[in-house]
Amino acid sequence: MLKKVAICFALLISLFVPVAAQLPSTPYSPSLLLGAAWYPEQWPESRWEADLSLMEAAHIHFVRINEFAWSSLEPREGDYELDWLDRAVRAAERHHIAVVIGTPTAAPPAWLTSKYPETLRTMADGRKDGHGNRAQFNWSNPKYRELAAKIAARLAERFGNDANVIGWQIDNEYGNESYDAQTQAQFQQWLRGKYKTLENLNARWTTAYWSETYQDWAQIPIPVGSGNPGLLLQWKEFVSDTWRSYQRNQIDAIRAHADPRQKITTNMMGWFDAFDHYTVAQDLDFASWDNYVGTGHLDPVRTGATHDLTRGFLRRNFWVMETQPGVVNWSPNNNMLDKGEVRAMAWNDIGHGADAVEFWQWRSALNGQEQYHGVLLGADGTPVPVYDEVKQIGAEFEKAGPALDGTSVDSQVAILQDYESRWAINWQRHNSAFDPVDALVSYYASLRALARSVDIVADTAPLGRYKLVVAPALNLLTPEAAKNLEAYVRSGGHLVLTQRSALKDEDNSLYPQRQPGPLAELLGARVEQWYSLDKPVPIDGEWGAGENRIWAEQLSFSAPETRTLMRYGKSNGWLDGQPAAVTRSVGQGSITYIGAGLDGKTMKAAAKWMMREAGLNPIMSDLPDDIDLAIRSGNGKRVFIFTNYGVSPRTITLPSPMEDVLTGGTVSSVTLPQYGVAILR
Ligand code: GAL
Repeated sequence: MLKKVAICFALLISLFVPVAAQLPSTPYSPSLLLGAAWYPEQWPESRWEADLSLMEAAHIHFVRINEFAWSSLEPREGDYELDWLDRAVRAAERHHIAVVIGTPTAAPPAWLTSKYPETLRTMADGRKDGHGNRAQFNWSNPKYRELAAKIAARLAERFGNDANVIGWQIDNEYGNESYDAQTQAQFQQWLRGKYKTLENLNARWTTAYWSETYQDWAQIPIPVGSGNPGLLLQWKEFVSDTWRSYQRNQIDAIRAHADPRQKITTNMMGWFDAFDHYTVAQDLDFASWDNYVGTGHLDPVRTGATHDLTRGFLRRNFWVMETQPGVVNWSPNNNMLDKGEVRAMAWNDIGHGADAVEFWQWRSALNGQEQYHGVLLGADGTPVPVYDEVKQIGAEFEKAGPALDGTSVDSQVAILQDYESRWAINWQRHNSAFDPVDALVSYYASLRALARSVDIVADTAPLGRYKLVVAPALNLLTPEAAKNLEAYVRSGGHLVLTQRSALKDEDNSLYPQRQPGPLAELLGARVEQWYSLDKPVPIDGEWGAGENRIWAEQLSFSAPETRTLMRYGKSNGWLDGQPAAVTRSVGQGSITYIGAGLDGKTMKAAAKWMMREAGLNPIMSDLPDDIDLAIRSGNGKRVFIFTNYGVSPRTITLPSPMEDVLTGGTVSSVTLPQYGVAILR
């Protein structure tokens, strides 16, 4: 066993590893950054010094400020008051704390929306949003864009060459669309650009159905709730493009004045699917997301997958722009994370490729909507219990920074993620229990436990570097993606398609071939019928015996070299004895289709089989299940982050002695209590 592990390590070390690039760094700091969301505009300036001293003592390296401060920056139209912000940046600088400036466009001031009511969004029910909360603006409105570009430009003129400003966050957590007539006209115009003629659009959406046929572009509605699948999909694509141009407007305003050293991002929200994140992320310098647990405790696998999703937006390291100091205020039960869990969570972030972790928020405003949210200082301005744990994280980031500098996550396994497929399934789940993200995470969990790192990328991403590519529920397959996948297999890659894959084309129309549509010929097999299940169906074969719940697809094959891997047992008659998973070798590569939903045991066996087929060895396969291992490498370094998520202490025996980065010294085994973390190299 030891020998096998050692060989795997050697193999890993020889691989090319992409290094962290294009992320902001502070003038003072280590390469791992600890941050806090600070709102100086909510406090008298006389308090700032005390706050910043406490931050410096907690090893906080940067603050993100300003993202909701528009009414303090421009109290009246054209009347800019940026001096206070400058003083805040200078005060932070005196404490060796760098600054990320948020553009304040998620919270327009009252004068703005009163004077230009067209800048307020119209909600799906037709009512206008109003002042008093946030994100009430209309993202497609030209006047709002003009005003947003103006304030962004003003900020960049003032701070674009400020040595203590390391980056920019555009707006905050994009999400709310508008359903007004002007947006509808833009959507119609956008459709015209895409489909050219109404004849074409009508044909591709099959609008003869229910007499939906359009005779004038102006007749095309914004879908609310249900609608023609073609219309639903194109609305989402329009929403995504409109977020991109909304963001681009501010990026251009900033870039006109800012030093390229300052990097631009926005804070995304994990699996949130209101827009295609690959579309929006392409104009950013780096990706970031807001990592909250809400009710319950950290699920290192699902959260790990969310990190990997975010890392996949630009296929490089990212930031956790917000995370909870133990507790939030918006969940059904806002329980506190356990002592030690906040630290474990921060290292989970880093293990998956984050280079910064920022706590939201430093201190709660005395009034305002989020009084109960987790903080590092209480209303009295002194540290709450979790402050010390965060301080420990900051000290550890400084210690481990040099070891992790220039490293990233190197994966030979990729899982494909596709917004269009998720939308298409969620609009017509057919079985409400079929959740496309759950389907993805079920494959991710088993593969990551073996490979220790998995990339999650778009179906059009370059795939050449991967030995194994798994596409869970890739329901909507565009011709471009189909070409990418076919080329991957033909050049020796191992592709696994799963349930509901390749049913639809780029218009969300059914393919006129059976699944997997344009890949059916390559597979030499097809889906005869799908079944939403009301009771479990037994499955048996190469991956052992198990139970298939929720969904089953009956396969058949025509190519003589296509092999059956799993079969259904006795169930509804239709499925009895039929192929449930098939595979076909194509040159050095292979294509596999899994029509069954795998349970815990068969999923694990399938993951092992996939790794083997792809010529991949599991890494440290004898680690206890409670132990998570993340590996970062690059710049000639390989760093192992072990975390114990079980309740009992666990001892890990290392394949060879390693340096303990946090405590110094060489170790050949480590014992970790619950939430214990070891960083070894
Ligand atoms: C985020 C938001 C922050 C704050 C936080 C509370 O979604 O960006 O401004 O509201 O949630 O958890």
